[in-house]
Amino acid sequence: MGEWQEIWNNEGARRLWGVPDRQVVALADAWCTDGKIRRVLDLGCGVGRHAICLARKGFEVYGSDHSEAGIEACQQWLKAEGLDAQVWCSEPEEIPYPDGFFDAVIAFNSIYHGTEERVEAAMRLIHAKLRPGGRAFVTLLSRKSRMYGRGKAIGPNTFVSEGMFHQLFANGGERGVPHHFSSQEEVERFFTGFRIESLLHEELHLPSARKGGDELTWFKIPGAYFWRVVAVRE
Ligand SMILES: C[S@@+](CC[C@H](N)C(=O)[O-])C[C@H]1O[C@@H](n2cnc3c(N)ncnc32)[C@H](O)[C@@H]1O
Repeated sequence: MGEWQEIWNNEGARRLWGVPDRQVVALADAWCTDGKIRRVLDLGCGVGRHAICLARKGFEVYGSDHSEAGIEACQQWLKAEGLDAQVWCSEPEEIPYPDGFFDAVIAFNSIYHGTEERVEAAMRLIHAKLRPGGRAFVTLLSRKSRMYGRGKAIGPNTFVSEGMFHQLFANGGERGVPHHFSSQEEVERFFTGFRIESLLHEELHLPSARKGGDELTWFKIPGAYFWRVVAVRE
């Protein structure tokens, strides 16, 4: 928790995570057209780039994160844009809404910050909080990533590394943050009770406005492989 507090207090980190992922934007547009998705939970919302994107598109948005600095930044951003969303600071397992409440859950680069048991518990929670037919979009770290096996092992396929993503943040990257790495087989097991619609294996791209002006460029973090899973809750 303390680690994410430090990261989100860093302006560069907030800027880097300030533009919504392109697949999230595409999904949100498809959900708008489809008209069957209204309530969306952004689990581990950070400073809220996806919560904001969804609120702008008119969804009923909920977001949680266990970093106060992340939630504060998200609340300020919502206020600045005059948008409405329920966002709160809590551990991921504390979702104060009944089972079956959400039409969709997004967990982008969030729930793998823990051991295998914790990721599994988060997936069970997502399943419980979604209504049947609800949609999940979850990203998980791949064992093909160059970071796999680096740092101190704190459980099977779970590592805490001093240098994880050090190139992304001025103050030492995701230092002290646990990362769990999954095989495709494990990803499929985590999605028990879901029908997987799409399973991509891709290197992470993050936005950059470094070249100046308004034009946004996306840069690849070489060797940072993630699973991107879109699934329907059965
Ligand atoms: C890399 S950031 C991603 C933030 C946001 N989802 C985004 O895409 O901009 C990871 C976030 O996950 C949160 N987090 C850490 N451990 C978590 C867990 N076990 N479950 C859910 N979220 C977690 C952190 O507080 C942090 O804000």
